[in-house]
Amino acid sequence: MKDDLLELLKKSDDYISGERMSEIFGVSRSYIWKCIKGLREDGYEIQSAQNRGYRLVASPDVLSYREVKDYLKTRSLGRKIEYFSSLDSTNTYAKKIAGQASEGLVIVADEQTQGRGRLGRDWQSKRGEGLYFSIILRPDLPPDKVAKLTLLGVAALVRALDEMGISSLIKWPNDLIIEDRKVAGILTEMAGELNYIDYIVMGFGINVNNPRESFAGELEDKATSLRLEAGTRINRQELLGRILNNLEVLYLEFVEEGTFESSLKVAREKSILIDREVRLLRAGQEELVVVKDISDEGDLIIIDGNGRERLVYSGEVSIRARRGYI
Ligand code: BTN
Repeated sequence: MKDDLLELLKKSDDYISGERMSEIFGVSRSYIWKCIKGLREDGYEIQSAQNRGYRLVASPDVLSYREVKDYLKTRSLGRKIEYFSSLDSTNTYAKKIAGQASEGLVIVADEQTQGRGRLGRDWQSKRGEGLYFSIILRPDLPPDKVAKLTLLGVAALVRALDEMGISSLIKWPNDLIIEDRKVAGILTEMAGELNYIDYIVMGFGINVNNPRESFAGELEDKATSLRLEAGTRINRQELLGRILNNLEVLYLEFVEEGTFESSLKVAREKSILIDREVRLLRAGQEELVVVKDISDEGDLIIIDGNGRERLVYSGEVSIRARRGYI
C-alpha cells in the first residue's frame, strides 16, 4: 500500500488530497495518513498543505528497488534488489546466498565495512559516497569464459557513464579511469567445477559522490570520484539503473548469441593501455612491456623486452604506468 501511494505521489505534479487518495485505494483517511508518515520516516520529503493535500518534494538517495526501478529497462538484472544500509561486503554476502538466489539478483549496500578489491586489496566503501553492488549470474558457460564477463562489466560501466555525459577509459581488465585516476573497479568471483559454473558474483565499486577528502593519503594521486570529475552530484539510482540496462544487453549477447563483440569494441576503443609502455607486476616480479592490443578472446597482447609478442591473461597481474598508477 505504501508503495502504491508513493507511485501515485510520484506521478502527480500537484497536491493530491487525502480524501482523493482514500477514494482511490478504498481505505480510510487515517490509514493514508499512517502511510504518509511511514514514507516520511523512510526519507521521502512530502509536503502537506491545508485543503490541498500532499505532494512529493524529494526522494531519499536510497538504492532500494523502489527507487531504482524507474530507471530500469531490464528483463532480469536488478528486477530483485536486496538493499542494505551496511554490509561487510556485497560480494561476500552474495556468495553466501547465491546457492538459493536466481539470476539477476542485485545486492546493494550504502556502506561496506570490509569491501574487497582484486588481488586481496581493500575497497574503501564509505557510507553514501559510492555505489557498491554485486550481481548474481548463472550463465550456462564453461568456467574459462568467466574472465570475459569482467570485460562486459567495464564496457557496461563506460556506456552507462557515456549516457550520463561522463567519459571514461578502461584499464584492462577491470578498472575505470578518468583523468589518469581510478574511479571504479570490478571484482568477479565464481563457484563451480572444472567444466561447470555454479554462479558468478560480479561486484562493482564506483566512487560516485566522494569529496576530495575521501582520497587523502596514498589514494590522493590514484583515485577520484565521478562528482569530482563531472563537477556535479551524480544520481546513484540512475547510475545503477543504467549500468544494469547496459550490462543486460551485453550479457544476453554473450550468453545467447555466443559473442562479446560489442564489449570488446568498447574495451579496445576506450583502452587507456593500448600503445603505452607499462610495468607488468606479477608474483613480485616487474617487467616493462608495450601493450599492443586486446585479443579477440579479451586477453592483453603485449610486446615484451625481447620484442616477443605475448598474451597476458587477467589472472594475477597488476599493470602500472612507468611511473604512478597509470
Ligand atoms: C578492484 O578494483 O580491485 C575491484 C573493486 C571491487 C569493489 C566492489 S564494491 C562491491 C563489491 N563488494 C566487494 O567487497 N567488492 C566489490
